[in-house]
Amino acid sequence: MHRALLSGLASIVLLVGPATAADAPPGASSCTGCHAPKKVADSVIPHINGRKAEDIVTFMREYRSGAWPSSVMGRIAKGFDDQQTQAIAAWFAAQPE
Ligand code: HEC
Repeated sequence: MHRALLSGLASIVLLVGPATAADAPPGASSCTGCHAPKKVADSVIPHINGRKAEDIVTFMREYRSGAWPSSVMGRIAKGFDDQQTQAIAAWFAAQPE
């Protein structure tokens, strides 16, 4: 299981072109239900495609600890450990903005 996760991470890091949905790590599809690939004009949900991976990881850590207030993200962030969060963040960062 860990080996699969690591090779998944490696393929994301080695990826040169835009990633496809097939490359999404476990858990990422639970984010895209709210964080849609396309910008939605009046949405309260921020657009995170193409965001720097380290920024997404930081957001998720702060949400998890409760350091930053949130409506839903605090609960969602608690469902992912650092390793999972990093894989998901790397995937979002590789998506076209
Ligand atoms: C139920 C809908 C929903 C799901 C599912 C969801 N989010 Fe969010 N996300 C939000 C909302 C709403 C906000 C604004 C903060 C808040 O109110 O919680 C947010 C904020 C964020 C932010 C901060 C962006 C910014 O610029 O402020 C990041 C990063 C983020 N989410 C990442 C994720 C990741 C990664 C996942 C999957 C593990 C995920 N979200 C799943 C609704 C969702």
